[in-house]
Amino acid sequence: MTQRIPRLGVLGSGKGSNFRALAEAYRSGTLGCEPVIVLSDVESAGILNLAESFGVHAHFVAPGPFRTKMTPQSEAGLVQLLQEAQVDFIALAGFMRVIKEPLLQAFPGRILNIHPSLLPAFRGLEAWRQALESGVPETGCTVHLVDAGVDTGKILGQSRVPLLPGDTAESLHARIQVAEHELYPKMVREFAEHLRLSAE
Ligand code: GRF
Repeated sequence: MTQRIPRLGVLGSGKGSNFRALAEAYRSGTLGCEPVIVLSDVESAGILNLAESFGVHAHFVAPGPFRTKMTPQSEAGLVQLLQEAQVDFIALAGFMRVIKEPLLQAFPGRILNIHPSLLPAFRGLEAWRQALESGVPETGCTVHLVDAGVDTGKILGQSRVPLLPGDTAESLHARIQVAEHELYPKMVREFAEHLRLSAE
């Protein structure tokens, strides 16, 4: 990488509120990198429209027949789009499939994820519901590097969120998301800075 601003690719399957937080940080000059492409495995995902509204290229990539992962061919399609967009690193923002070899090999140590718990507690789906049902007094969110496991990669940063009396799964998830929208842009900025320094 030269001294240009690092280029970020974002992958998501849902409404894209974390992408919005990243795009707004970019607009206000505090992201330290440029979101250049958004890819989704869900054709109707809100994140695709949101990307377009921010002027970021957005593409649907058909995932194939499996529920929890893409076919190797589909994942190779993602890699091709990310490489054509000259992406330096990737932020998963609600991407609901396990990342496999094609992507891990193309961007080793360069894929970040945000997870709605204080990892290593509550890996996997609906981590806020797991926290609520277990009765812990606090949970939170974690930004970590993606490896071949599910929510197992190196932790880069965390934010704590209390459980409050009367919390439902929805109210707790909403409070965690507020923390996510603050933490993710900060962690992406730190990672972009680290890439810039290691390229010097
Ligand atoms: C977030 O809660 C994130 O932690 C999880 O998926 C959700 C995505 O939400 N990985 P959004 O699409 O960014 O609103």
